[in-house]
Amino acid sequence: MENISFQILVADSSHKEYAETITDEMANSAKARGTGIAKRSPEYIQSKMDEGKAVIALTSDGKWAGFCYIEAWGHGKYVANSGLIVSPEFRKYGLARKIKREIFKLSRKKYPDSKIFGLTTGAAVMKINSELGYIPVSYADLTDDNEFWKGCQSCVNYEILMSKNRQNCLCTAMLFDPNAKKNHIEEIALREDFKKEIKLFDRWVRLKKYVMLKLSKSKDSAKSIFL
Ligand SMILES: CC(C)(COP(=O)(O)OP(=O)(O)OC[C@H]1O[C@@H](n2cnc3c(N)ncnc32)[C@H](O)[C@@H]1OP(=O)(O)O)[C@@H](O)C(=O)NCCC(=O)NCCS
Repeated sequence: MENISFQILVADSSHKEYAETITDEMANSAKARGTGIAKRSPEYIQSKMDEGKAVIALTSDGKWAGFCYIEAWGHGKYVANSGLIVSPEFRKYGLARKIKREIFKLSRKKYPDSKIFGLTTGAAVMKINSELGYIPVSYADLTDDNEFWKGCQSCVNYEILMSKNRQNCLCTAMLFDPNAKKNHIEEIALREDFKKEIKLFDRWVRLKKYVMLKLSKSKDSAKSIFL
């Protein structure tokens, strides 16, 4: 593989020119994957850059390569690292892992006491999250801030989420809890299991998609079976 070097930076107002490229790529990637996405405007991305709540990756000659930003919910009790995107030409270079590590560090610095969570359908993201210390949780363990859940309204799977009273959907919920006991043996074992194999995540994503979509087609079944 060609050796490309990237700069991974906390984004600031000097990076606003990249906002439209980023939102276009977010929309194109969601379309290509046929998955849902919480839509973001270039202005929203720019506000994150102004606030110093985003990480951007650029090539050494200034080409945009990747992005991710921080959102705080429930008066800062919860933080989400959202909108992870890597430009298609720079995928599989380990860039998502580097960006996620930086945004995680930035989140811990800005919100040291907050729980950090993510909702994703992506096996790659699940693997990176578990390396950072996230564990899979139920939706009930996430923020109940309505503003966060409003972000799901633009997702193609919103109906499924609502039919489950916001307790499940195609996305898997993962959480990093800074106050979790460090020696909690079961959690550590679970984390180690998840770290091992990307195939495990791939299988989980396929299974969840199959079950959730099947259930959503049969409302009666959806009422009686809960994943
Ligand atoms: C998902 C995405 C961010 C991954 O970016 P990337 O820079 O290619 O990822 P990395 O190179 O850092 O890979 C990290 C790990 O995930 C694996 N991986 C990457 N893409 C994968 C995929 N599509 N399916 C399964 N595994 C994948 C890599 O093999 C690597 O695992 P390993 O090092 O243990 O072998 C990128 O494909 C993307 O932007 N996709 C569209 C947007 C998206 O899905 N965002 C996530 C929303 S939650």
